[in-house]
Amino acid sequence: MPERIGLAVIGCGTIGRIRAQLAREFPAVDWLGLCDVDLDTAKSLGEDTKAEFVTDDLDRLLSRPEVNAVIVATAENEHVEPILAAADLGVPMMIEKPLATDPVESKRVLDRLDEKGIDAVIGYTQRFRRRFLTAKQKIVDGVIGEVTTVVTRAFMNRMVPIATLRKTDQRSNLTPMVVSGTHSLDLCMWLMEGKNPAEVYARSVDVALGELGTKDATLGLFTMDDGTLWSMNISWALPTVWPGSVYGLEVGIVGTKGVIDIEDTHRDTIVASELPQGAGYTSKGYAPAEARHVDFIGSYPPGDVAGGLLWGPMRTETISWFSRISTGIPTPHATAHDGHRNLLLTMAMDLSARRGRPVELPIEPEELVE
Ligand SMILES: NC(=O)c1ccc[n+]([C@@H]2O[C@H](COP(=O)([O-])OP(=O)(O)OC[C@H]3O[C@@H](n4cnc5c(N)ncnc54)[C@H](O)[C@@H]3O)[C@@H](O)[C@H]2O)c1
Repeated sequence: MPERIGLAVIGCGTIGRIRAQLAREFPAVDWLGLCDVDLDTAKSLGEDTKAEFVTDDLDRLLSRPEVNAVIVATAENEHVEPILAAADLGVPMMIEKPLATDPVESKRVLDRLDEKGIDAVIGYTQRFRRRFLTAKQKIVDGVIGEVTTVVTRAFMNRMVPIATLRKTDQRSNLTPMVVSGTHSLDLCMWLMEGKNPAEVYARSVDVALGELGTKDATLGLFTMDDGTLWSMNISWALPTVWPGSVYGLEVGIVGTKGVIDIEDTHRDTIVASELPQGAGYTSKGYAPAEARHVDFIGSYPPGDVAGGLLWGPMRTETISWFSRISTGIPTPHATAHDGHRNLLLTMAMDLSARRGRPVELPIEPEELVE
């Protein structure tokens, strides 16, 4: 019999809302408790999901006896405190990326999760797109031989940095790689599983978004320990009228016997209308100044709503996490170790760009802080 799930969701904004609504569709979840520092946000989600418990007090939620699984979906800079508090319960956790925005804190969090033996997964949702799952299987099956070269190009609408950065004045670590490039970095590290980065050289520009306290783009070249070359590039400064509402990705993976060329830009389904199309990322009521009349359908990474339900990778990811914790099936979720590694690699790219020279890997959290 699947184990019954009493789920605590901490952070009831855009992503906490999606995950909590999906929880209500999963038969094994028979108790839902919500917490947000903004009580109105928690109450509004509580009403929509008929949650059993709603609070703005983390300790009150975590002391409820029903809780045996926790989702942390607070804002980027606010992950550490709820993770450490929930870790004391020793229950499975799903944590949104990045694990933390400070590398030393990230290590502290990882150590605590390990000490407590917690099965913690990180919300690297794009692993759950079918094309990436299938590509991974082809690579594991040896279809393209030994991978020698990977090229990654992530293009993002600047709505994401604008909506994200306006929520905090602690912006120094909210770079394109730490906040968003981490998704494509995770994906490619997962596709290249077994290879470890030995060095990275990166450069950044900040012409359009510098005044917001972030950068426009970071382009980097990783050399892996077996000599594999991986070019990891992101710009999150595309204009708000760009049809991609959030993310467009291209990944080319060349092996000794074959190649996998992945188009994930969503240019295959386009809507154009005299009526304005919705913004992609609308956290905390953000709306772009200009109307967007053309949209690549599918470019909102969690998925798309049809008939009142969300369809897409975040559904697959969340529902399969519920299956993982209630039945024990193995799933391809990113682990907390993956999350910590991803933070260090994204920050190593930023460090290399700052220093203007290559950074040797692996790197310790303390060196990144310096
Ligand atoms: N998995 C994905 O594909 C994906 C996509 C987008 C965002 N994210 C990540 O999800 C996280 C949340 O993003 P969002 O877009 O939902 O942000 P959001 O701002 O819409 O929601 C965050 C919520 O957390 C609440 N909060 C902040 N500190 C808190 C605390 N200490 N305790 C309780 N509540 C607190 C805020 O009041 C807010 O309601 C971020 O880390 C973001 O990077 C993941």
